Amino acid sequence: MPLVSTRQLLDEAAKGGYGVGAFNVNDMEQIQAIMEAAKETNSPVIIQASRGARAFAQDNYLYHLMLAAAELYPQIPLAMHLDHGNSFETCESAIKLGFTSVMMDGSLKPDGKTPATFEENVAVTKKVVDYAHERGISVEGEIGVLGGIEDGHGAGGSGLDHVTDPDQAVEFAELTGVDSLAIAIGTSHGAYKFTKKPDGSVLKMNLLIAIHNRLPKTHLVMHGSSSVPKDLQDIINQYGGKLKETWGVPVEEIQLGIKNGVRKINVDTDNRLAITGAIRKVFVESPEKFDPRDYMKPARAAMQKVVATRMVQFGQAGHAGDYTAISIADMAKGYANGSLSTKPLVAAK
Ligand code: 13P
Repeated sequence: MPLVSTRQLLDEAAKGGYGVGAFNVNDMEQIQAIMEAAKETNSPVIIQASRGARAFAQDNYLYHLMLAAAELYPQIPLAMHLDHGNSFETCESAIKLGFTSVMMDGSLKPDGKTPATFEENVAVTKKVVDYAHERGISVEGEIGVLGGIEDGHGAGGSGLDHVTDPDQAVEFAELTGVDSLAIAIGTSHGAYKFTKKPDGSVLKMNLLIAIHNRLPKTHLVMHGSSSVPKDLQDIINQYGGKLKETWGVPVEEIQLGIKNGVRKINVDTDNRLAITGAIRKVFVESPEKFDPRDYMKPARAAMQKVVATRMVQFGQAGHAGDYTAISIADMAKGYANGSLSTKPLVAAK
């Protein structure tokens, strides 16, 4: 199957009542781990690369690795997504390269650090939507600001500093026509999200439900959704690592989100933890080894296990064969003739 539009994946997920994991990558082994997990669980999947990943891997390597994935796994609907684009130019270059969806994170200024005004966010996001839709590419926007910093991108601070205002979410979705909307409900990027198992005072699932009730047709996106499982933390620390005690987003909260309009769930940290733990284990247990394959293979397998587990938990498992790809050219026609219009039908307050 050719690379598929994220919008199509999310529309199908909404029909089926499930969520789709969007897993971050920087290299070949991570792409391989995700694709094997997708095959194992028969799942559609979104693979995403941040600006940091694009700089690390170089665009052409990344793009051709993604083409290889699509070629090797023709049965898997696969979208290639830009995570946290910081400007129109970043999104434009991703679209020119062949990404099938982009995130315009206009919640921050182009420095990727300073919170932007609502008006600035609307203006840059709308510009990206117009450019992208003309080319059949879907767009994720962000309203409210996530906590933490990922790959140098982020306002830092707590996930509670700039939670999403439901009225602004409605206005933003209407003014921009985004295909999906990332909201800030107390989560943050990275391993250190919560200092104890989160409750409603720090993880605002009620806010998510309130936004979904106002925007029932908008695909919601949960960022910072790693669960940071204790067993993955323990492996790292058992083999010489120094992670401080921390909590992520419990899977059951993500599942509650999926029942309430969440269609895309971003996961990066859990895979980083799995990879690092597996590599540390080999280094400590077999210090005589020096062939990178001796530690990259278990690292890849550890990531595959995490991704396959999440695919089952998010409900996307078993859905790869539900549909065939709509071409990007046909997506462009759909945006032009209004059949893919994203203007939300706002529910009464
Ligand atoms: P985590 O750091 O929780 O994995 O979140 C990743 C993410 O949201 C990427 O945009």
